[in-house]
Order: sequence, then structure tokens, then C-alpha cells
Amino acid sequence: MTTSAPQELALPVLDAELASRLGARMQRVETLLAGHVQGRAPFVTEAASHLLRAGGKRLRPLLVLLAAETGEEPDSDDVLTAACVVELTHLASLYHDDVMDEADLRRGADAAHARWGNHVAILTGDFLFSKSSELTAVLGADAVGIQARTFTRLVEGQILETVAPGPDEDPVAHHLEVLAGKTGSLIATSAEYGTIFGGASPEVRAALTAYGEIVGVAFQLSDDILDIASDAAESGKTPGTDLREGVPTLPVLLARTSTEPGDARLRELLDQDLDDDVLHAEALGLLRAHPAMEEARRYVVARADEAKQLLVALPEGPVREALETFADIVATRSA
Ligand code: IPE
Ligand code: IPE
Ligand code: MG
Ligand code: MG
Repeated sequence: MTTSAPQELALPVLDAELASRLGARMQRVETLLAGHVQGRAPFVTEAASHLLRAGGKRLRPLLVLLAAETGEEPDSDDVLTAACVVELTHLASLYHDDVMDEADLRRGADAAHARWGNHVAILTGDFLFSKSSELTAVLGADAVGIQARTFTRLVEGQILETVAPGPDEDPVAHHLEVLAGKTGSLIATSAEYGTIFGGASPEVRAALTAYGEIVGVAFQLSDDILDIASDAAESGKTPGTDLREGVPTLPVLLARTSTEPGDARLRELLDQDLDDDVLHAEALGLLRAHPAMEEARRYVVARADEAKQLLVALPEGPVREALETFADIVATRSA
């Protein structure tokens, strides 16, 4: 199943002029992306364009464009290239992630491995990473360095998610570090690329990079809450995947530490393999109703507030407002 690429911004931008500028640039990014997923063989193009065409919010390229608005040259071609780089990197990570998570639904469509098998899914992810790298080379050595470090962090985060924290490590701290790597890194880089190629000051670059990192972690935390609380129609993904795969999330880690006698059954379930449909449904139901969900949501809101405080480095105006809204949306989408 495929739907056409999104035409609307994933963010309500109140200022009409800014909204129309961003909308027009996102259209250009969309056209460029469609070109970048072309392979030499039709099958490669089909596999690589599959998830691009299926949908997606395009939050990372939008953040590049928005961050570029803080500089002198928000409309430079390099900004558009950087926007493509981050979406291609993200897209590639989704192909690999669905293999890892054995998730069959992505962006409301079949995951690539469900359609073509793991080999094609993994190699298509590699193809997209390579495309992203080719494009980064156009942006110069500094951008290549940033992209490489980002990718290292992303992959390391994905790997560390599969291993338990050490005996002396706090599970929540370990978890937050994993999220900073797998998701915070690329969202931080999206903001950083925007400031670099939009020609912003070093102070704004530092502030928005830090902002992106925190917003990125908050975004992943929200996604994890939604994995428990939402349905497939809302997210375009199969809910309860993290629980089924035993991927730790903040609500689960918080519920595990509960000493309430009434939580004994949930704790027992969380310590088991939840691949069984009946046990999985029971655990999901108990977790949905557990106060750990609210606690996790409060934590996300606190992180988003922290990110918004970094925006004092920017002059007041529509761009700062839009970045505030961006942080708010991330925090409230799981409310
Ligand atoms: C999904 O990211 C993976 C996470 C980091 C949670 P998005 O929620 O941005 O996915 P798309 O691009 O909109 O499909
Ligand atoms: C994905 O995390 C992070 C990356 C793709 C790097 P998740 O596994 O939580 O993402 P979803 O829920 O499948 O989108
Ligand atoms: Mg996943
Ligand atoms: Mg998830």
C-alpha cells in the first residue's frame, strides 16, 4: 500500500509567511529525495523508494529548514541537500530497524523485510546510507565528519539497545543513553546542519544542536509511549512491538521498579518472553493502565521544556516560536 508523499508540514507554523516558505522548500526536498532513491536497476529503485513513498512525517528535514531560518542564507542549496541527507539516513535506519524489531508495518505499509525478506531490506538500508553519504560529500569534509559521527552514535545506540545494562549501571540512565544515540544524534545533526548551511552564528549552532539532542530523546520517549498506548491506524506501525520484542522502554523500566503488591502480575509478565499473544495482550493492558505511563509522559514534558529553554539564544520571532512548537508537539503527541 502506498500513499502520496505528505504535502503538509508536520508542524503547525503560525506565521503564514514562514509556513509558506517552509512548505515550498519541503516540496523541493521531496522532489530531490525522490531522485536520490533511484538505483541503476528498477528493483533497487522500487525497494529504495518503497518507504519514502509510503509516507512519513519528514520531521528531520523540516528541522534542518527551520534551523536554517536562524541564519543569513536559509534558502541556500546546501540547506536542501542537508535536509535530504538526514531524511535518507533516517530512512535507511528504518529499513534496518524493522529487521531488528521484526516489525511488519511501517508508515502504514509493509515493512521492506516483510515484502522482500531480510537480505533485501538490509542491503536497501545500506544503499540508502551510501546515497546519504554521497550527498554529504557535496557538503564538504566537516559535514562528512558530522554525518559519520552521527551514524556511529545511531548504530551504537541500536546495538546497545539489544544488551542489558551492566550490573553497576542504572537501567534508566543506560536507556536514556541508548535513546540519545539512536535518535537524539540524528535530530541534533538535523538542527546543526540547518544552522551551518543556513549561515547562523556559532552560538546559535551550539544552542540548536543541544536543543535537537534533547528534543530527539523526548521524541523517542514519546514514540515508545505511543507504541504502548496507540493503535496502528494512528502510528502506521504495529503497537506493542517493543513489548513483544523485549525492547526496554521508559514506562516498562519505571513499572519494573514498582514495589506495589498490585503490580506483581505485571512485573512477572515483564520478566517473561511476551511473544505469546495472550500474555502480550495482558501485559499491554496492564501497562496501559499503569501510573508509569503518566510518569513517563511527565518526564517527556520536562525534557521538552528543557529544550525550549535553550532557545533563549535566538531572537524572539516566528522561527523561535516554531521551534518551541516543535518541542511541544514532540512532548504532547504521546499525551
Ligand atoms: C521513527 O521516526 C523512528 C523513531 C526514531 C521513533 P519517525 O516517527 O520520525 O518516523 P517517520 O519518518 O515519521 O515515519
Ligand atoms: C528506532 O527506534 C530508532 C531508529 C530507527 C534509529 P524504534 O524501534 O522505537 O522505532 P519504531 O518504533 O520502530 O519507529
Ligand atoms: Mg522499531
Ligand atoms: Mg518505537
